[in-house]
Amino acid sequence: MLELKHVSFQVEENGKEKKIVDDVSLVLPDDEFIAVTGPNGGGKSTLAKLIAGIERPTAGTILFDGKDITGLSVTERARMGISFAFQQPVRFRGIKVLDLIRIASGNDKLTVAEGCEYLSAVGLCARDYINREVNASLSGGELKRIEIATVLARKTRLTIFDEPEAGIDLWSFKNLIQVFQNLREKIRGTILIISHQERILNIADEIIVLSDGKLKQAGKKEEVLPGLLGTGDAYPTCGRFE
Ligand SMILES: Nc1ncnc2c1ncn2[C@@H]1O[C@H](COP(=O)(O)OP(=O)(O)O)[C@@H](O)[C@H]1O
Ligand SMILES: [Mg+2]
Repeated sequence: MLELKHVSFQVEENGKEKKIVDDVSLVLPDDEFIAVTGPNGGGKSTLAKLIAGIERPTAGTILFDGKDITGLSVTERARMGISFAFQQPVRFRGIKVLDLIRIASGNDKLTVAEGCEYLSAVGLCARDYINREVNASLSGGELKRIEIATVLARKTRLTIFDEPEAGIDLWSFKNLIQVFQNLREKIRGTILIISHQERILNIADEIIVLSDGKLKQAGKKEEVLPGLLGTGDAYPTCGRFE
């Protein structure tokens, strides 16, 4: 369980203090699919970075299973099972999809069959991809799915996705929703996903709304989503592509 207690992140801009995240207290229960939404500039990405350890709060504490992790680095948090899903998998010359999955799983002896299971889980025809090089020949949608397959292989306790729908076309997006639905069923662990997309909010257990750095709402999807529909915080699926 991850707990934020009065977490703030403040910067100085032109000699003035600016609160980007302002006194946020939250509990993220284990094994839930949690969506974070709210207007652009509301502090969502910053909150994700604070949780992953990329930024440190200027006030407040972050607890993981009751342990204070506020001062821990990204690497230390990753070791404890908190990980940030980068939007594009790293590309190195010559690195194959199987290599990426092996690195993620921490098992360099992971078999092709085991690797293929992760690819199938994200809807890729495993045989066609397992030995592909991770390079520009893969489409944005394929790269996202490969990234999500590596998340599955990592078996982390808490995975953060920051607007995974960004930068992919509508067709891929529809498939991505399916992938997240599968992910929800297949992985144990918490998924924290920042998104404006109604279809993503719709598969969440809980929705958190951040605006102006402040926690506006947090609760079960059934309670929070109806109030968001029709506002700028929940776009219908095509919103971004019109
Ligand atoms: N390190 C920083 N220094 C100054 N301003 C920042 C910093 N990080 C974020 N911001 C600003 O804080 C606001 C919130 O940013 P962000 O967390 O990216 O919002 P969101 O992801 O909700 O769109 C934005 O106006 C952004 O420009
Ligand atoms: Mg953002």
